[in-house]
Amino acid sequence: NRISIFSPATIANVSCGFDVLGLCLDSVGDEMTINTACPKGVKIKEIIGADLPLVAEKNVGGVAALALLEHLQPDHGFEISIKKNIKAGSGIGSSAASAAGAVFAINHLLGSPLSNKELVPFAMQGEKLASGSAHADNVAPALLGGFTLIRSYEPLDIIKIDAPEELYATVIHPQIELKTMDARSVIRENITLKKATVQCGNIAGLISGLYTNDYNLIGRSLHDELVEPVRYILIPKFKEIKVAAMSAGALGGGISGSGPSVFALSRGVQTAQKAAEAMASVLQDTGIPFELHVSPI
Ligand code: HSE
Repeated sequence: NRISIFSPATIANVSCGFDVLGLCLDSVGDEMTINTACPKGVKIKEIIGADLPLVAEKNVGGVAALALLEHLQPDHGFEISIKKNIKAGSGIGSSAASAAGAVFAINHLLGSPLSNKELVPFAMQGEKLASGSAHADNVAPALLGGFTLIRSYEPLDIIKIDAPEELYATVIHPQIELKTMDARSVIRENITLKKATVQCGNIAGLISGLYTNDYNLIGRSLHDELVEPVRYILIPKFKEIKVAAMSAGALGGGISGSGPSVFALSRGVQTAQKAAEAMASVLQDTGIPFELHVSPI
């Protein structure tokens, strides 16, 4: 038995939801093929497009798959081949795509004993290997689509929220590698009550905007008091890129996951494309190479 899947890229945090909000990029992602094999366990057969470990225990997809097999105890094993289109350290959930794709495909080949939501904890094991923290804000939207809210980690409580029809994401990836582990090390542990209050207002505003298709409310809520103010210095021309996107009509934006990618959300594909051009023009002036994506959510 064999299955070929598209495993999507994701934007974690979505500005105000550090570790608790994420969204799925419908048209950007990796390709994976998984087949059943005789020997038990997991074999990473091939990875095209990236220099990543082939030893299952050291590979994020392998670790997530092994965690799932430990739970489901099938009487055979699996082989995984990955074509990486999402660059490692790009900030659009490269490790999450491998981890989520591996557990989704294996579960499917076993007759779907678990729901996609139930697969999240296994995919999180891959994230733990990649970044030292088992955050779910990339793997949950990769598995469920749309927006996801992780209301609680202990116990895990995940809510899927459909994206408003006309909402598009623009992502620019300056081609420098920023490891999530390093980008997490700059974050302050303590925050003031004042900042926490502003952040709560914005998260609540964003969720309300998603449920009521209120694009302006979504835009007004895309602010981050906690992480962006310390992380942005790791990203070349971050503020200029964000201002350029907003001037082109985007609703708002911020750092995609732990960076260095920067995202903007727009109403309609045309505005998203205009935002892409404006964001690109900022980096063009610096000579830093970059990749651009415009995607429905
Ligand atoms: N929430 C995580 C972080 C996402 O910001 O560190 C990493 O992609």
